Amino acid sequence: MEQFINTKIVYTPTEEDLQEAATLLTAGKLVAIPTETVYGLGVNALLPEAPPKVYAAKGRPSDNPLIIHLADANEADRYAVTCATYHKLASAFMPGPLTVILPKRNCIPDSVTGGLATVAVRVPSHPIAHRLIELCGFPVAAPSANLSGRPSTTTVEHVIEDMNGRVDMILNGGASDIGLESTIVLPKADGSLVLLRPGAITVEMLEEEGFSVMLDKAVTERLQAGEQPLAPGMKYRHYAPHARVILLSGERGAVQAAMEPFRDRTDTALVCYADDPIANAANACILGAFDRRDEQARNLFDLLRSFDSRPEITHICAPLPDRKGIGLALFNRMLKAAGYDIEEV
Ligand code: TXA
Ligand code: MG
Repeated sequence: MEQFINTKIVYTPTEEDLQEAATLLTAGKLVAIPTETVYGLGVNALLPEAPPKVYAAKGRPSDNPLIIHLADANEADRYAVTCATYHKLASAFMPGPLTVILPKRNCIPDSVTGGLATVAVRVPSHPIAHRLIELCGFPVAAPSANLSGRPSTTTVEHVIEDMNGRVDMILNGGASDIGLESTIVLPKADGSLVLLRPGAITVEMLEEEGFSVMLDKAVTERLQAGEQPLAPGMKYRHYAPHARVILLSGERGAVQAAMEPFRDRTDTALVCYADDPIANAANACILGAFDRRDEQARNLFDLLRSFDSRPEITHICAPLPDRKGIGLALFNRMLKAAGYDIEEV
């Protein structure tokens, strides 16, 4: 990092604080913002010289494009070429945890899109994010507010850990409601969607609205050398703790049996559901109740981060989630945390 920035941390943002944050963003400064998915690292999307500061603060490759965040779904036309599919998606799911890829207009600088001809558009529902973007009056480009390669941040403590001294302001908005990044879709000319990244807007929810959905290969599989995911960010091994993550795939009972020999070991963490028999082990780490995928989603990144402050842990065993509902997003993030290391049990 080139330079230490004096970071202002605001624990209970008032309207005045949000005004100050908007003034900082207008001037091209960096503000960490709570959203309903994960915290974002916001910057003025219309100033070509501003986005590179975000890449520097995160230590992120600059070929990985940023999502622009709007206060109102109808503003998208100013920055992107919208279509009937976009408007149908917007009326069903915006504001909320959905990002849509659209052809970009010239006012969006290449520094936001990494030189792509498309731009990612999202309208967050978190009241602080929404009010701040509204005060700005311009789109706020924001990647997740974590150091590159670390799990996304879902509490202000996570953001402070990664970003203190690297950004101008951090706004607290409590623990993220969803805990996993937004669903990303690419509309096709025939009205169908390609799912680039799974999230809380699930395939089932999209299908219920009448969309036909195809999964980009990078959602469920390791790409071979030379293969490119449609969302450039999906090629990076995000979310990876220092310890080796081993995903156990099989019946719930078989997964339990495979973990049993590692019970109480100090060098191994056992990720399990609250109602698993192994949950009483000294080295058990509870992801959430078995039938509460929303709870598991909310806890995952905090759990992954907690392992990094425990150097004695060299191995993490975790059950491979099923792919139902937001389970597909958990499956995708855990697969990446494990570097696609799955053991059948
Ligand atoms: O929930 C979220 O989406 C959070 C909050 C802060 O809004 N943001 C977030 O941003 O997760 P980030 O930068 O960590 O992830 C953005 C993803 C990356 O995988 C990137 O490659 C993809 O979106 N992306 C952005 N623009 C794109 C484009 N034009 N075409 C394809 N993928 C794009
Ligand atoms: Mg990210």
